Amino acid sequence: MEGFLIVARFFHFSAVIMLTGVFAFERLVSGPAFRRSGAAVESAGELRHRLQWLAWACLALAIGSGAAWLVAAAAGMSGKPVGAAFSQGAVRIVLTRTRLGEDWLLRFALAVLLGICLFGWGKRQWRVSGAIAWTVLLLAAGMLASLAWAGHGASTPGPAGDLHLVADVCHLLAAGLWLGTLPPFILFLVEVPRTADTKWAAVVATATRRYSKLAIASVTVLLAGGLVNTWFLAGTVPALVGTEYGRLLLTKIGLFIAMLMVAAVNLLRLAPRLVASTPNVVWRTAARLQGNARIEMALGFGVLAIVGVLGTLPPGLHTEPAWPFLVRFDFGELTLGPRILLAILAVAAFVCAVAAVAATAAGRYRQAVVFAAGVVMGLAIGWLPLRPAIERAYPTSYYAPTQPYAAASVDRGAALYAKNCTRCHGGTGHGDGPAAAGLPIRPADLTEAHLFAHSPGDLFWWVSHGRDEGVMPGFAGILNPDQRWDVINFIRARAAGVLAGQIGPELTTSAAPEIPDFAFEAERTQRTLRQTLENGPVLLVLFTTPAPVERLRQLAAAQSSLETAGLQVVAVGLGASSDEAGEGTGSPRFAVTVSSEVSTVLRLFRAPDDGGDTELMLDRSDAVRARWSSKTPGALAPPAVLIADADRVGRITVAAPSHAGHTH
Ligand code: HEC
Repeated sequence: MEGFLIVARFFHFSAVIMLTGVFAFERLVSGPAFRRSGAAVESAGELRHRLQWLAWACLALAIGSGAAWLVAAAAGMSGKPVGAAFSQGAVRIVLTRTRLGEDWLLRFALAVLLGICLFGWGKRQWRVSGAIAWTVLLLAAGMLASLAWAGHGASTPGPAGDLHLVADVCHLLAAGLWLGTLPPFILFLVEVPRTADTKWAAVVATATRRYSKLAIASVTVLLAGGLVNTWFLAGTVPALVGTEYGRLLLTKIGLFIAMLMVAAVNLLRLAPRLVASTPNVVWRTAARLQGNARIEMALGFGVLAIVGVLGTLPPGLHTEPAWPFLVRFDFGELTLGPRILLAILAVAAFVCAVAAVAATAAGRYRQAVVFAAGVVMGLAIGWLPLRPAIERAYPTSYYAPTQPYAAASVDRGAALYAKNCTRCHGGTGHGDGPAAAGLPIRPADLTEAHLFAHSPGDLFWWVSHGRDEGVMPGFAGILNPDQRWDVINFIRARAAGVLAGQIGPELTTSAAPEIPDFAFEAERTQRTLRQTLENGPVLLVLFTTPAPVERLRQLAAAQSSLETAGLQVVAVGLGASSDEAGEGTGSPRFAVTVSSEVSTVLRLFRAPDDGGDTELMLDRSDAVRARWSSKTPGALAPPAVLIADADRVGRITVAAPSHAGHTH
């Protein structure tokens, strides 16, 4: 079934692209070239005849493959074999009730109109048929553009979706102008007679020049549209190299680059030979151009075959990427200087690579060697600043947790940790469990900041498959993936708590342990920490019994000025009874109630010697930026200090939520 769908898509894309290409070629390349040459060249009529046949064939193929696509889609949606999909009305349902059906009907209507116009296309004289020629071109372009709605672009929501869709439309039209014009270009070159006279030579030269310009413009648009598309569907390196979708996309890009190289040879080496040359040279060059165009076309059909498959796969960003390399680069480890140096080197190497290819295509081999040496040098120099960023990597390094970093998951993880990990890593995580002494390697201290040097996906790999040749066993057979993520969320939350304990009243911009998200009830409505943070920084007050009544009163009195400064207060009582905040404080609006699991998790962010009150300043991305406790020197911050801090915290640049982490 999949196979049938892929083949149908391939033929449909190919047919519609070529259809657009035939008309575009006639309007933009061959027509003007013949007209410019003055007297009518006899072959012009012959070429037009052949182009018309090609157009008819493409139109028939477009309609046939379009119908096959529809049936395959209907069968896929109804889960029935192709025959049954037809007889039992699935096709009719798809046609009348789905987006795919609407697009199909539109394309079919355009195809019928096009067929009618096509009768008139060949019969008239050159000049008379101008209007018809533009009309068929527009109709074919309309069919091609409508294919964008069959792609992933149509399912991206919001304004981003509009951008994606526009990019898709441009991408398709540009494909029609480049890839689609190759077959008519070949037909044109076939017409060049062996004894080309000067008129013919002029026609070939003009057509080739016009064709090259069209190709350059289309390639630029193709690249721009392709980049937008890649960003939306596989916008991360792991998604590109680690998913089937991404790897196919890379193959497509590779074929595209190969096509570009052939086109560069045509443009830089062959086209100049056509200017003011003898008929013999013109004929020979035309033959070589023809050969190259055939190679380009073969590569182009490879691209379209991949397009056929890509549409049936989930985009890379929607599946877990399996990292295929032994190492990965963690650019977060680098300081600004090396990063800038690397960026410059990367751009320089890229420019050199392009120049090397162009020089090769133009036949200037010595220049090409110099540029290639530039590429090698760029890479060699880049290696030095890059070294600190190299990390050991695992297939799961870029997996995104299936369980969100939130109190419920952390709480489940705590129980799983106690059962499976404590014996080695110890109850407090310091690597001093009862079984630790008997091991050849000391279990890692899981409370060190070092834990955050590893991606959650790295931890997932170790917890799943063990470490150090089985000294730490793998838990893939004991814990299911969700449970493994729960444990990981727990050890990360605990380490975050320890790390937060080292933060003082001075705002920090570097270390940034994160608090797990949690739900609370305030003024009879349910909210979460994340939702609250969307409005700005939060002062999280964690207090125990007896409630620090004085402090809560002070904050309550200052609440409106704190809020004006953009600082929201969330106070959680971690004592036995969660109503304590109310007692004697006039129940400030910021006192919230939480479940007992949430209290347990939040206690990870208090130290035993904190006294009755721990206060954390959280920036909008949930990171702890400052910490006070009733026992530390300087104690708690007066409201005026909080207001000043909130202003500064609000200005700390917060990393945008990762593109890969988006959900649909
Ligand atoms: C049989 C003892 C044992 C058990 C049980 C065990 N570990 Fe380990 N763990 C180790 C040893 C040993 C190391 C390796 C330390 C090293 O290489 O420095 C380790 C390393 C780790 C690391 C790597 C830390 C780092 O920064 O390099 C993580 C994470 C980890 N364990 C998590 C867990 C979790 C979660 C569990 C429970 C699901 C668990 N371990 C159960 C012994 C154990």
